[in-house]
Amino acid sequence: MLRYSKIFVFLICLWPLCSIIYQLFYNKLGAEPVDKIINHFGEWTLIFIFLTLSMSPLKKITNSTIWIKFRRMLGLFVFFYASIHLLSYVGLDYRFDFQPIINDVLKKKFVFIGFAAWLLLIPLAITSSNKMMRILKHNWKKIHRLIYVIGIFGVLHFIWLSKTIFFKPLIFLIILIFLLLFRVTFNKSGSKV
Ligand code: HEM
Repeated sequence: MLRYSKIFVFLICLWPLCSIIYQLFYNKLGAEPVDKIINHFGEWTLIFIFLTLSMSPLKKITNSTIWIKFRRMLGLFVFFYASIHLLSYVGLDYRFDFQPIINDVLKKKFVFIGFAAWLLLIPLAITSSNKMMRILKHNWKKIHRLIYVIGIFGVLHFIWLSKTIFFKPLIFLIILIFLLLFRVTFNKSGSKV
């Protein structure tokens, strides 16, 4: 049963990718397709970060460990979509011309923090297996707490890049604060989240 649930969740997680492929084939990406693709994957990266962070609160609320079984998959989808987001920016926006990209990273704080978030995702992806969990023991948990820092960086990235429209970044900020508060509250009460 769990196996089928995992396959089902995996297929749903592919939705953001399929939707862009569909829009690409049917010319529905609008006047600025590159921006649309970059923003689409950026937004979904943040959504997947929040989904990953929601699994522990859901475990607590529902008193069921089933949520934790999906956490690794969701976390790997964070890395997957963040990498496509980065690749679309490097490949579609700059056509792999690395000098202006390095300038962007150094001069634009929103690109810098986005890049930092992506770099922090690498150790999480590398250490996501059961084998690495066994090797790293209690350090594994410490490393994987980085997801909270990545969430903060991701939201800051969104706030800093949004020059005029603040509604969406604000919603993301509120969700993040909510998830962080949950984490802090349950840490204080001594529960493992
Ligand atoms: C965990 C990592 C990241 C997250 C969560 C993230 C999230 C986002 C979000 C939410 C948006 C805006 C989407 C919208 O407007 O609807 C965005 C846009 C963007 N991101 Fe990221 N991002 C990440 C990493 C990166 C990296 C590594 C780069 C490049 C080095 C990058 C470059 C950009 C650019 C250029 C835009 C478009 C800005 C514009 O519209 O002018 N992001 N990202």
